[in-house]
Amino acid sequence: MKNVKRIGVFTSGGDCSGLNATINSVVRAANEKNVEVYGIYEGTDGLFYPNLKYTKLKLSDLANNFSCMRTGGTVLKSKNRDNKSSDADFEKNKIAFERGIKELGLDSLIVIGGDGSAEITSRLIEGTDTNVICIPKTIDNDTPMTEYSIGFDTARNVTMEAMDRLQTTAFSHNRTMILEVMGRDAGHLALHTAIAGEACVCIIPEIPYSIDNVCKKLDEIKNKGISYALVVVAEGTKTENGENLVIEKCGVECYTGFANYISQKLAERGYLNRTVILGHIQRGGTPTAYDRIVASEFGVYAIDILLQGKNNRIVVIKDGKVTDVDLFEAVAVGNRPVFKDDILVRTARALGIYVGDGG
Ligand code: F6P
Repeated sequence: MKNVKRIGVFTSGGDCSGLNATINSVVRAANEKNVEVYGIYEGTDGLFYPNLKYTKLKLSDLANNFSCMRTGGTVLKSKNRDNKSSDADFEKNKIAFERGIKELGLDSLIVIGGDGSAEITSRLIEGTDTNVICIPKTIDNDTPMTEYSIGFDTARNVTMEAMDRLQTTAFSHNRTMILEVMGRDAGHLALHTAIAGEACVCIIPEIPYSIDNVCKKLDEIKNKGISYALVVVAEGTKTENGENLVIEKCGVECYTGFANYISQKLAERGYLNRTVILGHIQRGGTPTAYDRIVASEFGVYAIDILLQGKNNRIVVIKDGKVTDVDLFEAVAVGNRPVFKDDILVRTARALGIYVGDGG
């Protein structure tokens, strides 16, 4: 067993529900093994020497003050894409990061983040002797090489509830309701929402679609005697002719509302419809039991492999089991898209949902 006395933990990238539960499990598992945990504020920023931002995480604080298992967001705060640095700044940050870790006497770091955070962290530690264990989280569920990322289940329950609420109003008014969900370049959240929420159309970035085929599906269900329709679209989908619907806000590219594009196209063809863009509501709220359990498993597993002396790993779920893979290898693979032959794509199509390509 490796002699690990003190570790740091931080959350990085877009928040989601289950981050606090993960911090909680890391601290509890570390406590059992007499390992001290320093919580680093605002992701990697908190370790840039000399502006260190940290606190010693005590189990009693997590239980008494934060009720970490139950809350959304992150008590350690997070830094996002808004904080991109230039190459020169990155090199300076890399030095400051290593210095910060040494200054705090951290034997290892646990990084709770998605694909972007794994990539940034891997660049910060490359060529140094810093050891990192990453724990995947993101409502996009697209962290490389893992079947599941913390936060996804809570988000898909939020989107499913939105579909349930939209179904009644769609029915009452014989309308098409279009729900736009998050996911950036990945369609996992949209696909799960479409199946659980019984949509008839699901448009995702990974699979080409046509407005003609969307209309064909809407006609088809009308001809079957169903008076309303539910459509789910993923925010990162491009227009039919490949245009990216983004605008820049304070130097960061943000999605402008793909749902509005589809809505307009359908309205032009006489299909009565309304849109809902769910946005950051998908990232908040109390974590589901599933997210709390995965957060607990991942936290315990991360401490275990740290103590076994493993270096630079990412905790993943593979074939339904918690295991770990090399961090640099995972980063090289890149984010995990929805594949065309995914069992859920086949399931959706078998249920009569239009998921792109020929109708
Ligand atoms: O990656 C998580 C995510 O919620 C994406 O689904 C979404 O596109 C993005 O973050 C939004 O980021 P921000 O909070 O910076 O607007």
